[in-house]
Amino acid sequence: MNILILGSGGREHALAWKLNRSPMPNKLFIAPGNGGTSRIGHNIPIGVKDFQSIKELVLGERIQMVVVGPEDPLVNGIHDFFLADSELKHIPVIGPQKKAAMLEGSKEFAKEFMMRHQIPTARYESFTARTIERGYEFLTTLEPPYVLKADGLAAGKGVVILNTLQEAITELDSMLLEEKFGNASTTVVIEEFLDGIELSVFVLTDGKNYKVLPTAKDYKRIGEGDTGLNTGGMGAISPVPFADKEFMDKIEEQIVKPTVEGLKMDNLPYKGFIFIGLIKVGNDPKVIEYNVRLGDPETEVVIPRIKNDLVEIFKAIGNQTLDTITLDLDERTAATVMTVSGGYPGSYAKGKQIHGIDNITDSLVFHAGTTLSTEGQVITNGGRVMAITSFGKDFKEALKTSYKNVEKLSFEGMNYRKDIGFDL
Ligand code: AMP
Ligand code: GLY
Repeated sequence: MNILILGSGGREHALAWKLNRSPMPNKLFIAPGNGGTSRIGHNIPIGVKDFQSIKELVLGERIQMVVVGPEDPLVNGIHDFFLADSELKHIPVIGPQKKAAMLEGSKEFAKEFMMRHQIPTARYESFTARTIERGYEFLTTLEPPYVLKADGLAAGKGVVILNTLQEAITELDSMLLEEKFGNASTTVVIEEFLDGIELSVFVLTDGKNYKVLPTAKDYKRIGEGDTGLNTGGMGAISPVPFADKEFMDKIEEQIVKPTVEGLKMDNLPYKGFIFIGLIKVGNDPKVIEYNVRLGDPETEVVIPRIKNDLVEIFKAIGNQTLDTITLDLDERTAATVMTVSGGYPGSYAKGKQIHGIDNITDSLVFHAGTTLSTEGQVITNGGRVMAITSFGKDFKEALKTSYKNVEKLSFEGMNYRKDIGFDL
């Protein structure tokens, strides 16, 4: 089967690696891909937003399935684009249709969905420039810290947490009146701060049935002890030790089931991954966000723990027969450590040669921001460069192996967090 994966990160390398392990012979295409995916499939230099070129590629290479990594093409309707085209509509796309992708594309839409389906989340209200006065009033009804969320996609930067009322008011002004995030902050959701520990739950659905995939915890800040600027993610572990059976049952009953049922009731067509960001408040899970894709670097720990043939799973999603699949999960813990370019998440250099990859034997190496130089050397090409994933009986053992192997890698300016899992 010819399969196209859209995207270029560690997530897409992990998906390509897993699809490549299928017992069936598959030919993989990755657009645009990275240095790692070029070794297991064919990288095609087209962007994930260029639907017309994607169509030409799919027809030219007789692609039979499309797996969408990032949210952008989903929010912009790639699945609908396929369905509306007589030559493409029979090709399964793994990822929701545009209406359903609004769960990530609009925070207000996601909050209204949760309200409609009684899914536990933080108390909130949303505001525009016209209703800003009411926004100031709503802020006074909340305790600090204050959580302000730009409604639309803002490259992961749209959530701002402020410690004082005055700072919250200034931020609200800047989002609503000065278009801090452009169109993304025309509407702002203000919500109650949830105090607790975070985790992510991944769910696969074919629109009728669902499977709960392994949980993961991601470390977003650049600095040790969760300090400094937010990044795309500096490391992850799966499963999350505090997500025991009792807590997972609560998540399934209170969140996963009403989410999948809610999608059906609201007629939101969904065939793909649902990434549910949660905070454990006391003993209860509350949703802080939905994403309509897998997380990165969560994928680099979640996907290696799935023992099933992922091609079979994706086919079942296309046919809406996910109920016929029994998930077979690796009970061990997987941990990943992300190496990043010096300066990231601020400005950083690219094109640095990466040494030592071939010395890594007992970890999985998932490339993120890498490419091949004209001489065929692996060089850096982004902020997050490479994720090193290992297994262990617990997260400490898994991390020990990852750190041992991270030390074998080097490139000018290389940085990584040495404390993944510190809070567990
Ligand atoms: P997001 O961009 O939606 O992933 O949010 C970024 C981060 O903001 C989350 O990972 C949480 O750490 C934090 N966050 C979002 N909403 C809340 C909330 N209501 N209470 C506390 N922290 C939050
Ligand atoms: N690691 C967080 C995300 O993928 O959104």
